[in-house]
Amino acid sequence: MLPSPLLLPGRTLAAEHAIRTLGREARLFGTRGLLVHGRSLAVSGELAAILAAAPADVTIDCWEHRGGEPTTADVEQLRAAIRAAHVAWVAAIGGGSVMDLAKAAAGLCDAPATVAAYQAGLPIPPATLPFLAAPTTAGTGSETTIVAVLTDAARPWKQSIRHPSFLPRLVILDPVLLRACPPATIAAAGMDAFIQAFESFTSRYATAFTRALSELALQRITRALPAVYAGDWSLAPDLLQGSYVAGLALSHARLGVVHGLAHPLGARWHVAHGLACAACFPAALRWNRPAIANDLAHLRTILGHDVEDLMADWMTQMQLASPFTGATLTDRETIVQEVLASGSTTANPRPVAAADVHSLLDEIFGSTLGQPHRS
Ligand SMILES: [Fe+2]
Repeated sequence: MLPSPLLLPGRTLAAEHAIRTLGREARLFGTRGLLVHGRSLAVSGELAAILAAAPADVTIDCWEHRGGEPTTADVEQLRAAIRAAHVAWVAAIGGGSVMDLAKAAAGLCDAPATVAAYQAGLPIPPATLPFLAAPTTAGTGSETTIVAVLTDAARPWKQSIRHPSFLPRLVILDPVLLRACPPATIAAAGMDAFIQAFESFTSRYATAFTRALSELALQRITRALPAVYAGDWSLAPDLLQGSYVAGLALSHARLGVVHGLAHPLGARWHVAHGLACAACFPAALRWNRPAIANDLAHLRTILGHDVEDLMADWMTQMQLASPFTGATLTDRETIVQEVLASGSTTANPRPVAAADVHSLLDEIFGSTLGQPHRS
């Protein structure tokens, strides 16, 4: 019944203001650490509160990410700083970009080759530096996975690196951290979390174990996302924990062609990953329908809506629009090859050929996003 290997984070704390215990919890790994964070943590005052709450004998150096999805150059820079600081642990408090950046830099700290070489496929040696993660958005589920998605510094190419030793040793899910998120970020990240739960549910590698996780995540995210977007923070724990559970599911079941498309397109258009996923979702769902009819019927029962209708309604409600509709594709053949090479694409429930990717791109770039199914 259980996946083998079963990959779970070391320890997870889920409570309001749990982030203030970071220094105390991290002390288990050593008395000097590096905290990687985004701008909002400093602006909100939460960074100062976390540092003030740390035990007197714990030293925490800080590294603020410049923003944007992490490049191999960002990871090289942070990796050099980690090496120079001789820290005993690395923590990330941030969205998917911050977590992936810190996870990759900590994971490759002792590795001899360049980050680009590992991104290109060189085998990664086991990491020794403990990595701790606390998400400030409910989206990627990076806090649960062995994966870091990196963009090539020299060209628009996204490729993940992964190693079982990258798994966070401690995760803190503090819903208070979500309050610094603007509504547009709640929306885009939430779309990613929902689509990850959906694609892991329908993946050809899904099992009874992962489907139970995916289903739980779909239910929680469906209930919480519109409410949190509208400012009802009482459901923030459901959204954050739904995103976490979706991450556990995709770690073991993988995803589908939406993510296969979203990485090469997102790398070229520089749009939020969740928005790229949301923009690719309707075309991919319509194309997958014949292969997942039973799954869709089941989800309609437990969610109360057809998934395509639900997503279309959310796009309108949360004021999201496709960045691809009407845009011009300049390197279509390269994109098609990248989609076909993606591990997410190989997990799609319906086998994907080059002609299928061309058809999907035609629809994504030529059609109006979010025409509801309304069966
Ligand atoms: Fe994603």
